[in-house]
Amino acid sequence: MPAIAIIGAQWGDEGKGKATDLLGSRVDYVVKFNGGNNAGHTVVVGDEKYALHLLPSGILTPGCTPVIGNGVVVDLAVLFHELEDLEARGVDTGRLRVSANAHVIADYNRTLDKVTERFLGSRRIGTTGRGIGPTYADKMNRIGIRIQDIFDEKILRQKVEGVLDLKAQVLTKIYNRRPATVDETVDELLAFADRLAPMVCDTGLLLNQALDRGETVLLEAGQATLLDVDHGTYPFVTSSSATSGGACTGSGIPPTRLGQVIGIVKAYTTRVGEGPFPTELHDDAGEHLRKVGAEYGTTTGRPRRCGWYDAVIARYAARVNGVTDFVLTKLDVLTGLERVPVCVAYDVDGTRHDEMPVNQSDFHHAVPIYEHLDGWWEDISGARTFEDLPANAQRYVEAVEAMSGARISAVGVGPSRAATVVRHELI
Ligand code: GDP
Ligand code: IMO
Ligand code: MG
Repeated sequence: MPAIAIIGAQWGDEGKGKATDLLGSRVDYVVKFNGGNNAGHTVVVGDEKYALHLLPSGILTPGCTPVIGNGVVVDLAVLFHELEDLEARGVDTGRLRVSANAHVIADYNRTLDKVTERFLGSRRIGTTGRGIGPTYADKMNRIGIRIQDIFDEKILRQKVEGVLDLKAQVLTKIYNRRPATVDETVDELLAFADRLAPMVCDTGLLLNQALDRGETVLLEAGQATLLDVDHGTYPFVTSSSATSGGACTGSGIPPTRLGQVIGIVKAYTTRVGEGPFPTELHDDAGEHLRKVGAEYGTTTGRPRRCGWYDAVIARYAARVNGVTDFVLTKLDVLTGLERVPVCVAYDVDGTRHDEMPVNQSDFHHAVPIYEHLDGWWEDISGARTFEDLPANAQRYVEAVEAMSGARISAVGVGPSRAATVVRHELI
């Protein structure tokens, strides 16, 4: 059985958490391979609603082993806080495994994230302020602290001394901030060592052995294609690889073992933070999508920017990730519109672009070329088969499928697990 990746096809918050949870009962492992607690996945199970940040959504499925892969950056206080919250709600978290090679978010990086944003002013990224960017920068600079370092106090102290030498200069001299001392930083990290130790292992080995045994591994992305550090709208991106390539580097599962890539795409588009967004709506229609779709950030509570479906982006995501199946989410939010615009291409200074413009400034100026599809009024939240959907909703799905570069195998019609129309079995 090959590994399966779930990735976001837009700017995040497409409903990856719900999709992962939906498949959870059919997989043995769910792996988070990138990002950290900048992610926010809402999963609704029966009457219970869970907001997960650092933990893979598979943690909610009994019998499934959740794994935090080497590509993740871990805020240990957040990790244990989330685990305690879930345990208090009766969720068994005992199977969680954490990569020894994952990096740790230290206090100085949380501070640097926030002060850098303030320093950038109008050029800010609109980050979640969780220390994600500075921690990945340290990883690339080869001055990061890894999970395994926490189990060797001498090494940990050496590494913290080295990195704090540098960070203290930057924080005090540029930003006028007093960083935590070496002792404070080391003590903060060591405090988690005993609880962390039983969870830590070579997760790459664990997952490849599971695949050898014919077990199923699901790789769950945080963030999304357009937020990917290589393939996204740089510099308005996160600092990790959120695409299917990142699923391999962030887990230790080789590309030859990846058999399926499920792209999660919303029936319209949202974005949190700064950066270009061609189909963004600044009018009542945008407000309508925000209100009906409850588009407020799971992590920061910020109102999400809203716009129509963008097929150029979907095609791009299909190509970059090798999407085999799309899950089209939140179709129910479009109910009650006379006509539903869908962006099929861009006009950039009089030139038509059917693909993502190569230059970022062209993307900033891209004006959507819309096709207007007929809307529907019927409540679709109870639909469970494609035939249950009104004719115009079916046509919307088919039209979007034809322009998005991969088949739409499932359609979301509500937040709960059950509120899903399956057209082709996903696993
Ligand atoms: P993620 O970051 O990709 O996991 O997505 P989020 O959880 O941040 O945001 C998606 C939101 O939409 C959550 O509140 C989900 O409960 C909700 N949701 C997911 N699928 C559907 C759907 O098909 N219909 C509706 N109405 N809500 C959905
Ligand atoms: P999920 O997994 C939506 C955005 C931030 C900001 C940019 C960089 O729930 O889809 P960072 O703190 O990562 O350095 O911020 O990326 N961002 C997200 N937007 N969903 C997310 O995660 C996001 N994670 C980061 O708003 O614009
Ligand atoms: Mg989210």
